[in-house]
Amino acid sequence: MTENREYDAREARKRLKQFLTGKTGERLFVQQIPHPSTPTGLCYCDNSVFRTIGMCFKAWLLETLLQLPFDGPKLWFLRRLGARIGKNVHIAAGAWIDPLYTQLLTIEDNVFIGMHTKIFMHEYRINEFRVGKITIRTGSFIGGSAIIGCGIEVGEGATVAAGTVLGCDVPPRSTIGGNPPRIIKRNERPSS
Ligand SMILES: CC(C)(COP(=O)(O)OP(=O)(O)OC[C@H]1O[C@@H](n2cnc3c(N)ncnc32)[C@H](O)[C@@H]1OP(=O)(O)O)[C@@H](O)C(=O)NCCC(=O)NCCS
Repeated sequence: MTENREYDAREARKRLKQFLTGKTGERLFVQQIPHPSTPTGLCYCDNSVFRTIGMCFKAWLLETLLQLPFDGPKLWFLRRLGARIGKNVHIAAGAWIDPLYTQLLTIEDNVFIGMHTKIFMHEYRINEFRVGKITIRTGSFIGGSAIIGCGIEVGEGATVAAGTVLGCDVPPRSTIGGNPPRIIKRNERPSS
């Protein structure tokens, strides 16, 4: 098991709080941690029982609304949770959006997000905990079952192919696809 005797959960939470308030001006927060199988103090499940239950309820409600074939309730709830959602956004039924750190999600106008896409604002790695902003710019198209990792920006008018595991930014008006992702086309589509 990986061990890190230097790990200071209180200091880590302080750094995370600063990131979340926008004071650092950074897009991605990275914290070195011991192995994620041991409590890091950074996940909602490390909080009090009541906060954990509240978080579970929020996550359940968001996941339920995201199953609906119409956008109104899901976009309303995402905005209530602090996400910035533009006009004419369609999130297809069955998409999954990370209920943690919804305030870090920005979806601009005229965006389409395909079925079963997953959008993660946080992730564990074997020795890191990451939290990041996700920005999906105007007019972009996310194909079904794509996975979008934290700290990513999808450029204006870009296309993310179905099933892409997106761990890098997408230049405007480009098409990206695959795992690992590669640029399939550049400057193909006019931005709207
Ligand atoms: C990305 C996409 C738009 C490309 O369509 P296209 O312009 O017709 O592209 P082509 O089929 O001509 O393929 C062009 C290249 O992209 C690659 N490609 C196409 N789709 C891909 C995918 N999903 N993942 C990885 N590579 C892909 C092809 O292999 C091909 O590579 P090559 O040039 O080396 O041969 C389309 O494949 C796609 O993913 N559409 C999304 C559909 C969807 O999910 N809709 C929403 C459902 S709710």
